[in-house]
Amino acid sequence: MAASQRLLLENAQQLVLVCGRGEEYLLRDGCARLAVLRDASLVVGLDGRIKAVGQADVIRHQFSGARFERRIDCSGKCVLPGLVDAHTHPVWAGDRVHEFAMKLAGASYMEIHQAGGGIHFTVEHTGRATEEELFSTFKHRLERMQRAGSTLVECKSGYGLEWEAELKLLRVMERAQRSMDIGISSTYCGAHSVPRGKTAAEATEDIINHHLPKLRELKESGEIHVNNIDVFCEKGVFDLESTRRILQAGKDIGLQMNFHGDELHPMRSAELGAELGARAISHLEEVSDEGIAAMARAKCAAVLLPTTAYMLRLKQPRARRMLEEGVIVALGSDFNPNAYCLSMPMVMHLACVNMKMSMNEALAAATINAAYALGKSDTHGSIETGKQGDLLVINSSRWEHLIYQFGGHDSLIDYVIVKGKVVYQNERCRTMSSY
Ligand code: NIG
Ligand code: FE
Repeated sequence: MAASQRLLLENAQQLVLVCGRGEEYLLRDGCARLAVLRDASLVVGLDGRIKAVGQADVIRHQFSGARFERRIDCSGKCVLPGLVDAHTHPVWAGDRVHEFAMKLAGASYMEIHQAGGGIHFTVEHTGRATEEELFSTFKHRLERMQRAGSTLVECKSGYGLEWEAELKLLRVMERAQRSMDIGISSTYCGAHSVPRGKTAAEATEDIINHHLPKLRELKESGEIHVNNIDVFCEKGVFDLESTRRILQAGKDIGLQMNFHGDELHPMRSAELGAELGARAISHLEEVSDEGIAAMARAKCAAVLLPTTAYMLRLKQPRARRMLEEGVIVALGSDFNPNAYCLSMPMVMHLACVNMKMSMNEALAAATINAAYALGKSDTHGSIETGKQGDLLVINSSRWEHLIYQFGGHDSLIDYVIVKGKVVYQNERCRTMSSY
Protein backbone atom coordinates (compact mmCIF):
# COMPACT_ATOMS: atom_id res chain seq x y z
CA MET A 1 0.00 0.00 0.00
CA ALA A 2 1.97 3.05 -1.23
CA ALA A 3 -0.48 5.85 -0.38
CA SER A 4 0.21 8.56 2.19
CA GLN A 5 -1.08 8.03 5.69
CA ARG A 6 -1.22 10.44 8.59
CA LEU A 7 0.25 8.40 11.42
CA LEU A 8 1.95 5.12 12.26
CA LEU A 9 2.20 3.99 15.87
CA GLU A 10 4.51 1.00 15.77
CA ASN A 11 5.57 -1.86 18.01
CA ALA A 12 3.41 -1.08 21.02
CA GLN A 13 3.97 -3.49 23.85
CA GLN A 14 0.22 -3.41 24.54
CA LEU A 15 -2.40 -1.94 22.26
CA VAL A 16 -5.66 -1.73 24.20
CA LEU A 17 -8.56 -1.86 21.75
CA VAL A 18 -11.10 -1.98 24.63
CA CYS A 19 -13.45 -3.76 22.21
CA GLY A 20 -13.09 -4.81 18.60
CA ARG A 21 -16.40 -5.99 17.21
CA GLY A 22 -18.40 -2.82 16.89
CA GLU A 23 -19.86 -3.13 20.39
CA GLU A 24 -21.87 -0.05 21.44
CA TYR A 25 -20.99 -0.59 25.11
CA LEU A 26 -19.53 -3.19 27.44
CA LEU A 27 -21.42 -4.73 30.35
CA ARG A 28 -19.69 -6.36 33.32
CA ASP A 29 -18.75 -9.62 31.59
CA GLY A 30 -17.54 -7.80 28.49
CA CYS A 31 -15.24 -5.69 30.66
CA ALA A 32 -13.67 -8.85 32.08
CA ARG A 33 -12.39 -9.66 28.56
CA LEU A 34 -11.04 -6.32 27.33
CA ALA A 35 -9.42 -6.66 23.92
CA VAL A 36 -5.65 -6.11 24.19
CA LEU A 37 -3.06 -6.82 21.46
CA ARG A 38 0.64 -7.34 22.11
CA ASP A 39 3.49 -6.17 19.81
CA ALA A 40 1.01 -4.28 17.73
CA SER A 41 0.90 -1.30 15.36
CA LEU A 42 -1.77 1.06 14.15
CA VAL A 43 -2.25 3.34 11.15
CA VAL A 44 -4.41 6.47 10.93
CA GLY A 45 -5.29 7.68 7.43
CA LEU A 46 -5.36 11.25 6.09
CA ASP A 47 -9.08 11.43 6.93
CA GLY A 48 -8.24 11.08 10.65
CA ARG A 49 -9.77 7.62 10.88
CA ILE A 50 -8.12 4.39 11.97
CA LYS A 51 -7.08 2.60 8.81
CA ALA A 52 -5.56 -0.55 10.23
CA VAL A 53 -4.64 -2.11 13.54
CA GLY A 54 -2.94 -5.43 14.17
CA GLN A 55 0.25 -7.37 14.80
CA ALA A 56 3.32 -5.21 14.12
CA ASP A 57 4.76 -7.53 11.45
CA VAL A 58 1.44 -7.78 9.61
CA ILE A 59 1.01 -3.96 9.54
CA ARG A 60 4.67 -3.52 8.49
CA HIS A 61 4.12 -5.83 5.55
CA GLN A 62 0.74 -4.32 4.63
CA PHE A 63 2.12 -0.77 4.63
CA SER A 64 5.66 -1.39 3.33
CA GLY A 65 6.13 1.41 0.78
CA ALA A 66 3.55 3.72 2.41
CA ARG A 67 4.53 7.25 3.43
CA PHE A 68 3.55 8.47 6.89
CA GLU A 69 3.32 12.10 7.93
CA ARG A 70 4.40 10.96 11.37
CA ARG A 71 5.73 7.72 12.87
CA ILE A 72 6.07 7.09 16.57
CA ASP A 73 8.05 4.21 17.97
CA CYS A 74 5.96 2.75 20.79
CA SER A 75 8.38 0.01 21.86
CA GLY A 76 7.89 -0.73 25.55
CA LYS A 77 4.83 1.54 25.63
CA CYS A 78 1.05 1.16 25.57
CA VAL A 79 -1.51 2.63 23.19
CA LEU A 80 -5.08 3.20 24.41
CA PRO A 81 -8.17 4.94 23.02
CA GLY A 82 -8.46 8.63 23.95
CA LEU A 83 -10.44 8.99 27.18
CA VAL A 84 -14.04 10.21 27.08
CA ASP A 85 -15.23 12.45 29.92
CA ALA A 86 -19.01 12.02 30.02
CA HIS A 87 -19.91 14.89 32.38
CA THR A 88 -18.38 18.34 32.87
CA HIS A 89 -19.44 21.92 33.66
CA PRO A 90 -16.42 23.76 32.24
CA VAL A 91 -17.64 27.26 31.22
CA TRP A 92 -17.74 29.61 34.20
CA ALA A 93 -16.04 32.41 36.10
CA GLY A 94 -15.69 32.69 39.87
CA ASP A 95 -14.08 29.77 41.63
CA ARG A 96 -15.44 28.52 44.96
CA VAL A 97 -12.31 27.71 46.90
CA HIS A 98 -13.84 29.56 49.89
CA GLU A 99 -16.78 27.10 49.81
CA PHE A 100 -14.37 24.19 49.81
CA ALA A 101 -13.14 25.51 53.15
CA MET A 102 -16.74 25.80 54.40
CA LYS A 103 -17.47 22.23 53.37
CA LEU A 104 -14.34 20.98 55.09
CA ALA A 105 -15.63 22.73 58.20
CA GLY A 106 -18.90 20.80 57.95
CA ALA A 107 -21.34 22.75 55.70
CA SER A 108 -23.33 20.62 53.26
CA TYR A 109 -23.70 21.27 49.52
CA MET A 110 -27.40 22.12 49.88
CA GLU A 111 -26.87 24.40 52.88
CA ILE A 112 -24.46 26.49 50.85
CA HIS A 113 -26.75 26.40 47.79
CA GLN A 114 -29.81 27.48 49.77
CA ALA A 115 -27.89 30.32 51.41
CA GLY A 116 -27.30 31.76 47.91
CA GLY A 117 -23.84 30.27 47.35
CA GLY A 118 -22.97 27.30 45.17
CA ILE A 119 -24.37 27.49 41.65
CA HIS A 120 -25.84 30.97 42.37
CA PHE A 121 -22.40 32.35 43.25
CA THR A 122 -20.97 31.04 40.00
CA VAL A 123 -23.94 32.31 37.98
CA GLU A 124 -23.34 35.82 39.31
CA HIS A 125 -19.63 35.79 38.44
CA THR A 126 -20.20 34.16 35.07
CA GLY A 127 -22.78 36.86 34.27
CA ARG A 128 -20.16 39.56 34.77
CA ALA A 129 -17.54 37.85 32.59
CA THR A 130 -17.21 38.65 28.88
CA GLU A 131 -17.47 35.98 26.21
CA GLU A 132 -13.76 36.46 25.55
CA GLU A 133 -12.83 35.88 29.19
CA LEU A 134 -15.03 32.80 29.38
CA PHE A 135 -13.54 31.39 26.19
CA SER A 136 -10.01 31.92 27.39
CA THR A 137 -10.50 30.04 30.71
CA PHE A 138 -12.57 27.32 29.00
CA LYS A 139 -9.84 26.79 26.40
CA HIS A 140 -7.22 26.48 29.11
CA ARG A 141 -9.36 23.92 30.99
CA LEU A 142 -9.89 21.86 27.83
CA GLU A 143 -6.14 21.86 27.23
CA ARG A 144 -5.55 20.60 30.76
CA MET A 145 -8.16 17.86 30.24
CA GLN A 146 -6.46 16.93 27.00
CA ARG A 147 -3.05 16.67 28.68
CA ALA A 148 -4.67 14.24 31.12
CA GLY A 149 -5.82 12.08 28.19
CA SER A 150 -9.36 13.27 27.40
CA THR A 151 -10.08 13.55 23.69
CA LEU A 152 -13.90 13.79 23.83
CA VAL A 153 -15.60 15.81 26.57
CA GLU A 154 -19.25 16.42 27.36
CA CYS A 155 -19.62 20.13 28.21
CA LYS A 156 -22.68 21.68 29.86
CA SER A 157 -23.96 25.22 29.96
CA GLY A 158 -25.87 25.97 33.18
CA TYR A 159 -24.21 28.96 34.83
CA GLY A 160 -26.42 31.41 32.92
CA LEU A 161 -29.93 30.14 33.74
CA GLU A 162 -31.70 33.04 31.95
CA TRP A 163 -31.79 32.68 28.16
CA GLU A 164 -29.32 35.38 27.07
CA ALA A 165 -26.84 34.23 29.70
CA GLU A 166 -27.20 30.57 28.68
CA LEU A 167 -26.76 31.53 25.04
CA LYS A 168 -23.49 33.27 25.89
CA LEU A 169 -22.17 29.96 27.29
CA LEU A 170 -23.45 27.94 24.33
CA ARG A 171 -21.65 30.37 21.99
CA VAL A 172 -18.42 29.93 23.91
CA MET A 173 -18.75 26.14 23.56
CA GLU A 174 -19.53 26.47 19.87
CA ARG A 175 -16.36 28.50 19.35
CA ALA A 176 -14.27 25.81 21.03
CA GLN A 177 -16.02 23.09 18.98
CA ARG A 178 -15.04 24.89 15.80
CA SER A 179 -11.52 25.93 16.69
CA MET A 180 -10.00 23.27 18.93
CA ASP A 181 -8.64 19.78 18.37
CA ILE A 182 -10.79 18.11 21.01
CA GLY A 183 -14.21 16.52 20.65
CA ILE A 184 -17.04 18.32 22.44
CA SER A 185 -20.53 16.98 23.07
CA SER A 186 -22.48 20.06 24.02
CA THR A 187 -25.32 20.08 26.54
CA TYR A 188 -27.94 22.73 27.19
CA CYS A 189 -28.38 22.82 30.99
CA GLY A 190 -30.61 25.86 31.52
CA ALA A 191 -32.41 23.85 34.23
CA HIS A 192 -29.27 23.60 36.39
CA SER A 193 -30.83 25.72 39.12
CA VAL A 194 -33.86 27.97 39.62
CA PRO A 195 -32.78 31.54 38.79
CA ARG A 196 -33.18 34.22 41.47
CA GLY A 197 -36.59 35.89 41.37
CA LYS A 198 -38.36 32.88 39.79
CA THR A 199 -40.12 29.85 41.18
CA ALA A 200 -39.28 26.41 39.81
CA ALA A 201 -42.67 26.39 38.04
CA GLU A 202 -41.93 29.75 36.37
CA ALA A 203 -38.44 28.65 35.37
CA THR A 204 -39.89 25.45 33.87
CA GLU A 205 -42.40 27.43 31.75
CA ASP A 206 -39.68 29.85 30.67
CA ILE A 207 -37.40 27.02 29.52
CA ILE A 208 -40.15 25.20 27.64
CA ASN A 209 -41.83 28.21 26.04
CA HIS A 210 -38.91 30.56 25.58
CA HIS A 211 -35.45 28.92 25.71
CA LEU A 212 -36.12 25.73 23.78
CA PRO A 213 -37.93 27.33 20.80
CA LYS A 214 -34.99 29.76 20.45
CA LEU A 215 -32.51 26.93 20.74
CA ARG A 216 -34.35 25.04 18.05
CA GLU A 217 -34.00 27.98 15.63
CA LEU A 218 -30.28 28.30 16.31
CA LYS A 219 -29.84 24.56 15.89
CA GLU A 220 -31.72 24.49 12.62
CA SER A 221 -29.80 27.44 11.19
CA GLY A 222 -26.53 25.67 12.12
CA GLU A 223 -25.43 28.55 14.34
CA ILE A 224 -25.23 26.44 17.48
CA HIS A 225 -24.66 22.69 17.69
CA VAL A 226 -26.20 21.24 20.83
CA ASN A 227 -26.41 17.51 21.43
CA ASN A 228 -27.99 16.94 24.82
CA ILE A 229 -30.46 18.37 27.34
CA ASP A 230 -29.85 18.25 31.08
CA VAL A 231 -31.90 19.06 34.21
CA PHE A 232 -30.80 19.03 37.87
CA CYS A 233 -33.61 16.79 39.17
CA GLU A 234 -33.30 17.31 42.93
CA LYS A 235 -35.36 18.20 45.98
CA GLY A 236 -35.44 22.00 46.18
CA VAL A 237 -34.33 22.39 42.53
CA PHE A 238 -36.45 20.78 39.74
CA ASP A 239 -38.94 18.13 40.84
CA LEU A 240 -39.82 14.99 38.91
CA GLU A 241 -42.73 16.54 37.00
CA SER A 242 -40.81 19.65 35.88
CA THR A 243 -37.90 17.42 34.92
CA ARG A 244 -40.19 15.23 32.83
CA ARG A 245 -41.66 18.21 30.98
CA ILE A 246 -38.30 19.88 30.29
CA LEU A 247 -36.67 16.65 29.11
CA GLN A 248 -39.63 15.84 26.88
CA ALA A 249 -39.54 19.32 25.34
CA GLY A 250 -35.80 18.91 24.71
CA LYS A 251 -36.35 15.51 23.13
CA ASP A 252 -38.98 17.08 20.85
CA ILE A 253 -36.33 19.40 19.39
CA GLY A 254 -33.95 16.51 18.80
CA LEU A 255 -31.77 16.59 21.93
CA GLN A 256 -30.59 13.46 23.73
CA MET A 257 -31.80 13.34 27.33
CA ASN A 258 -28.86 13.16 29.72
CA PHE A 259 -29.56 14.52 33.18
CA HIS A 260 -28.59 14.82 36.87
CA GLY A 261 -30.66 12.47 39.03
CA ASP A 262 -30.93 10.81 42.43
CA GLU A 263 -27.86 12.62 43.76
CA LEU A 264 -28.73 14.01 47.20
CA HIS A 265 -32.22 12.52 47.65
CA PRO A 266 -33.99 9.51 46.14
CA MET A 267 -36.20 11.17 43.48
CA ARG A 268 -37.13 8.22 41.21
CA SER A 269 -35.06 9.99 38.55
CA ALA A 270 -33.75 6.67 37.25
CA GLU A 271 -37.28 5.33 36.79
CA LEU A 272 -38.23 8.53 34.95
CA GLY A 273 -35.15 8.46 32.69
CA ALA A 274 -35.78 4.85 31.77
CA GLU A 275 -39.43 5.58 30.99
CA LEU A 276 -38.60 8.58 28.77
CA GLY A 277 -35.78 6.80 26.93
CA ALA A 278 -32.97 8.96 28.33
CA ARG A 279 -29.49 8.21 26.98
CA ALA A 280 -27.89 8.65 30.39
CA ILE A 281 -28.40 9.74 33.98
CA SER A 282 -25.58 11.11 36.12
CA HIS A 283 -24.79 10.81 39.86
CA LEU A 284 -27.27 8.18 41.16
CA GLU A 285 -25.85 8.08 44.69
CA GLU A 286 -29.46 7.65 45.93
CA VAL A 287 -30.90 5.49 43.14
CA SER A 288 -33.44 2.79 44.11
CA ASP A 289 -33.16 -0.92 43.25
CA GLU A 290 -36.14 -0.53 40.88
CA GLY A 291 -34.39 2.43 39.23
CA ILE A 292 -31.29 0.31 38.62
CA ALA A 293 -33.35 -2.49 37.07
CA ALA A 294 -35.27 -0.02 34.90
CA MET A 295 -32.04 1.58 33.63
CA ALA A 296 -30.62 -1.83 32.73
CA ARG A 297 -33.75 -2.71 30.73
CA ALA A 298 -33.86 0.68 28.97
CA LYS A 299 -30.11 0.67 28.12
CA CYS A 300 -29.90 4.02 29.86
CA ALA A 301 -26.26 4.60 30.86
CA ALA A 302 -25.30 5.46 34.44
CA VAL A 303 -22.68 8.22 34.43
CA LEU A 304 -20.97 7.87 37.78
CA LEU A 305 -18.96 10.79 39.19
CA PRO A 306 -16.47 9.61 41.80
CA THR A 307 -15.10 13.11 42.47
CA THR A 308 -18.45 14.45 43.70
CA ALA A 309 -19.11 11.67 46.18
CA TYR A 310 -15.50 12.00 47.34
CA MET A 311 -15.45 15.78 47.76
CA LEU A 312 -18.94 16.08 49.26
CA ARG A 313 -18.44 12.97 51.35
CA LEU A 314 -21.66 11.49 49.98
CA LYS A 315 -22.38 7.81 50.00
CA GLN A 316 -20.82 6.20 46.95
CA PRO A 317 -23.04 5.28 44.00
CA ARG A 318 -23.64 1.52 43.96
CA ALA A 319 -21.47 0.71 40.96
CA ARG A 320 -21.22 -3.00 41.79
CA ARG A 321 -24.96 -3.45 42.02
CA MET A 322 -25.40 -1.59 38.73
CA LEU A 323 -22.81 -3.76 37.00
CA GLU A 324 -24.36 -6.93 38.40
CA GLU A 325 -27.81 -5.87 37.19
CA GLY A 326 -26.59 -5.18 33.65
CA VAL A 327 -26.43 -1.37 33.67
CA ILE A 328 -24.05 0.36 31.22
CA VAL A 329 -21.67 2.16 33.59
CA ALA A 330 -19.77 5.24 32.37
CA LEU A 331 -17.59 7.78 34.18
CA GLY A 332 -17.23 11.55 34.17
CA SER A 333 -15.02 14.04 36.00
CA ASP A 334 -17.96 16.36 36.84
CA PHE A 335 -15.42 19.19 36.54
CA ASN A 336 -17.17 22.26 38.03
CA PRO A 337 -16.42 24.89 40.71
CA ASN A 338 -17.61 22.45 43.38
CA ALA A 339 -15.52 19.48 42.18
CA TYR A 340 -12.36 20.81 40.57
CA CYS A 341 -10.85 17.80 38.85
CA LEU A 342 -9.84 17.70 35.19
CA SER A 343 -8.24 14.28 35.13
CA MET A 344 -10.01 11.11 33.97
CA PRO A 345 -7.10 8.90 35.12
CA MET A 346 -7.72 10.17 38.66
CA VAL A 347 -11.46 9.62 38.21
CA MET A 348 -10.81 6.01 37.16
CA HIS A 349 -8.59 5.49 40.19
CA LEU A 350 -11.30 6.83 42.55
CA ALA A 351 -13.90 4.63 40.81
CA CYS A 352 -11.75 1.59 41.51
CA VAL A 353 -10.90 2.38 45.13
CA ASN A 354 -14.13 4.01 46.33
CA MET A 355 -16.73 2.40 44.08
CA LYS A 356 -15.05 -1.01 43.88
CA MET A 357 -14.84 -1.15 40.10
CA SER A 358 -12.08 -3.21 38.49
CA MET A 359 -9.47 -1.41 36.36
CA ASN A 360 -10.98 -3.03 33.24
CA GLU A 361 -14.44 -1.76 34.20
CA ALA A 362 -13.10 1.72 34.89
CA LEU A 363 -11.33 1.89 31.52
CA ALA A 364 -14.42 0.70 29.64
CA ALA A 365 -16.46 3.26 31.61
CA ALA A 366 -14.08 6.05 30.57
CA THR A 367 -13.97 5.01 26.90
CA ILE A 368 -16.64 2.97 25.08
CA ASN A 369 -19.37 3.36 27.73
CA ALA A 370 -18.79 7.12 28.10
CA ALA A 371 -18.98 7.38 24.30
CA TYR A 372 -22.28 5.45 24.45
CA ALA A 373 -23.63 7.91 27.06
CA LEU A 374 -23.03 10.65 24.47
CA GLY A 375 -24.44 8.65 21.55
CA LYS A 376 -20.99 8.44 19.97
CA SER A 377 -19.85 4.86 20.30
CA ASP A 378 -19.96 4.40 16.52
CA THR A 379 -17.00 6.80 16.17
CA HIS A 380 -15.31 6.97 19.59
CA GLY A 381 -14.38 4.94 22.65
CA SER A 382 -12.36 2.04 21.20
CA ILE A 383 -9.58 1.36 18.72
CA GLU A 384 -11.34 -0.12 15.69
CA THR A 385 -10.90 0.33 11.97
CA GLY A 386 -13.04 3.22 10.72
CA LYS A 387 -13.31 4.97 14.10
CA GLN A 388 -11.77 8.36 14.76
CA GLY A 389 -8.01 8.18 15.43
CA ASP A 390 -8.16 9.48 19.04
CA LEU A 391 -5.39 7.80 20.98
CA LEU A 392 -3.01 7.90 23.94
CA VAL A 393 0.52 6.62 24.16
CA ILE A 394 1.71 5.98 27.69
CA ASN A 395 5.25 5.37 28.84
CA SER A 396 4.67 2.06 30.54
CA SER A 397 4.63 -1.55 29.44
CA ARG A 398 1.29 -2.24 31.20
CA TRP A 399 -1.73 -0.04 30.53
CA GLU A 400 -3.02 -0.34 34.10
CA HIS A 401 -0.35 2.15 35.20
CA LEU A 402 -2.68 4.88 33.86
CA ILE A 403 -5.03 4.08 36.77
CA TYR A 404 -2.58 2.75 39.33
CA GLN A 405 -0.33 5.84 39.41
CA PHE A 406 -2.72 8.22 41.21
CA GLY A 407 -1.94 11.71 39.94
CA GLY A 408 0.91 10.29 37.86
CA HIS A 409 -0.60 10.88 34.43
CA ASP A 410 1.50 14.03 33.91
CA SER A 411 4.69 12.12 33.37
CA LEU A 412 3.05 8.89 32.20
CA ILE A 413 1.23 10.21 29.13
CA ASP A 414 3.67 10.70 26.25
CA TYR A 415 1.28 11.61 23.43
CA VAL A 416 -2.36 12.58 23.07
CA ILE A 417 -3.62 12.18 19.52
CA VAL A 418 -6.87 13.46 17.98
CA LYS A 419 -7.86 12.40 14.46
CA GLY A 420 -4.33 11.09 13.97
CA LYS A 421 -2.71 14.44 14.87
CA VAL A 422 -0.49 14.78 17.92
CA VAL A 423 -2.19 17.48 20.03
CA TYR A 424 -0.01 17.03 23.11
CA GLN A 425 3.46 15.69 23.46
CA ASN A 426 5.27 15.28 26.76
CA GLU A 427 8.43 17.43 27.09
CA ARG A 428 10.44 14.26 27.58
CA CYS A 429 9.48 12.95 24.12
CA ARG A 430 10.57 16.01 22.20
CA THR A 431 14.18 14.88 22.21
CA MET A 432 13.36 11.21 21.74
CA SER A 433 12.88 8.85 18.87
CA SER A 434 9.79 10.01 17.07
CA TYR A 435 10.67 10.38 13.42
O1 NIG B 1 -22.99 17.72 38.96
N1 NIG B 1 -25.46 18.81 40.89
C1 NIG B 1 -25.50 19.74 40.08
N2 NIG B 1 -24.47 20.13 39.31
C2 NIG B 1 -23.10 19.97 39.59
C3 NIG B 1 -22.60 20.93 40.60
C4 NIG B 1 -22.57 22.29 40.06
C5 NIG B 1 -22.07 23.32 41.01
O2 NIG B 1 -22.10 23.10 42.23
O3 NIG B 1 -21.65 24.37 40.52
C6 NIG B 1 -22.72 18.52 39.83
O4 NIG B 1 -22.11 18.17 40.84
FE1 FE C 1 -22.90 17.88 37.17
